[in-house]
Amino acid sequence: MTAQHQPIGVFDSGVGGISTLAELAHLLPGENFVYYGDTAHAPYGTKPREEVLSHVRTVMETLLHRQVKAVVIACNTATAVAAADLRARYDLPIIGMEPALKPASEHRRQGRVLVLATPVTLTQEKFARLYDRYGEGAVLLPCPGLMDLVEQEDFAGAESYLQRLLEGYLSEPLDAVVLGCTHYVFLKPILRRMLPDTVEIFDGNLGVARQLRRVLAEKDLLLANAGQGSIELSTSGDEKTVLPQMERLLERARSLVLSEID
Ligand code: DGL
Repeated sequence: MTAQHQPIGVFDSGVGGISTLAELAHLLPGENFVYYGDTAHAPYGTKPREEVLSHVRTVMETLLHRQVKAVVIACNTATAVAAADLRARYDLPIIGMEPALKPASEHRRQGRVLVLATPVTLTQEKFARLYDRYGEGAVLLPCPGLMDLVEQEDFAGAESYLQRLLEGYLSEPLDAVVLGCTHYVFLKPILRRMLPDTVEIFDGNLGVARQLRRVLAEKDLLLANAGQGSIELSTSGDEKTVLPQMERLLERARSLVLSEID
């Protein structure tokens, strides 16, 4: 197998990174992807940093056994905690993601920017640096428990959660909402209904997909002139329940990607 034909590893603590995966596969349809959801150890976003780091290292080893040519950390929490550590340890392209504060700050007028993310993401040094540069007008909203509702596909529960969370902000001028956790991307249609049309919703998925394409091209790792690529889903959780759920969410994520293009 030539290096170009090796798959791309994509991982998250659970199903959230499937929203990223759909964007990656849409931009790079000829590539082969191996997705790994660390369901047995989810959530990451409310665990001590050291524990997350240790889980992420194990996931990385699992993906390396699959001979991946690059890895996408489809998880803001894992990126904030472990991206630097992984890059120091492994010699392959590792693409991480961060809350889309920069594009949101460019969109900001007089109103606020709400940043929804896990408690761990919002307390890491990496995020503090991002906030120093692009955080003016940003209100940080840690959302413990919200990823769990997505894991359970409890979208009605997630809607009530978001209503309670945003209640106090909807009567004030608001310019943007940043989805700083890949699980929350599945909640975009709900948020779209709740927020005025003038409020822009940002996530990092398209940015990561473009970054992956750029890096693969630079390293001569892009699978050129390929036919249809493949997607393999895997989990550290109970395959019988998690894999069908991942399939359902991949379909959902694919239609979200398509609806954004229309
Ligand atoms: N999907 C995740 C993120 O982007 C992690 C959620 C969690 O495990 O708490 O932050």
